[in-house]
Amino acid sequence: MFIVLEGIDGAGKSTQAKLLAAWFENQGYDVVLTKEPTDTAFGRLIRRLVLTGGREGIIDGAKISHEAEALLFAADRAEHVDKLIRPSIEAGKVVISDRYFYSSLAYQWARGLDLEWLIDLNRFAIRPDLVLLLDLPAKESIKRLRSRKIKSEFDKIFELQRKVRENYLKLVRIFPEMKIVNAMEDIQTVHEQIVALVETLLEKKVYGTR
Ligand code: TYD
Repeated sequence: MFIVLEGIDGAGKSTQAKLLAAWFENQGYDVVLTKEPTDTAFGRLIRRLVLTGGREGIIDGAKISHEAEALLFAADRAEHVDKLIRPSIEAGKVVISDRYFYSSLAYQWARGLDLEWLIDLNRFAIRPDLVLLLDLPAKESIKRLRSRKIKSEFDKIFELQRKVRENYLKLVRIFPEMKIVNAMEDIQTVHEQIVALVETLLEKKVYGTR
């Protein structure tokens, strides 16, 4: 089983990913909790070139092109799928990823890249069984981010967060595996919404009524 958490910065993805992983472990599943960008050499390159650029980064005059940025995220993902996601699924584990190719569609599309090109570029990526979109208004995300160490240009720009949120909501209409979770609620309530969706998925898997 392969489950992904998506949403704008500050939506609570990593907290909910951990809670969900613990929930699965309690049920006796073997869980692999992972994230994108990854902690591999590719992920580090992204952090260096794209995310931690600060003043020298793409926030002030594009150190790298938007296309190069999309390709780096895709390269990181290709390794992620090949080395960790596919083998873990094949070994019968539950894979939970904090971000996946939907992030590339939502963010790099917001950068002005063509959605069809981005979808094609990420065609190699195994489709998850369930994508939990932790949805909240950009205003709320900015409020939450203020109390956190801010390290990427994405975090700083309200307008981008707003656009990315809109994009995610548009993607729900294209990808039926995406389900909206109201991320405005408190941590426990959000977790309960997620568990309800996961239980529905598990029932479908067991009874084969997809
Ligand atoms: P984030 O989840 O904040 O990682 P970390 O907390 O480890 O730095 O992701 C970093 C940023 O990268 C986030 O603003 C979203 C962006 N991003 C993309 O633009 N495209 C992608 O394909 C991915 C995976 C992330």
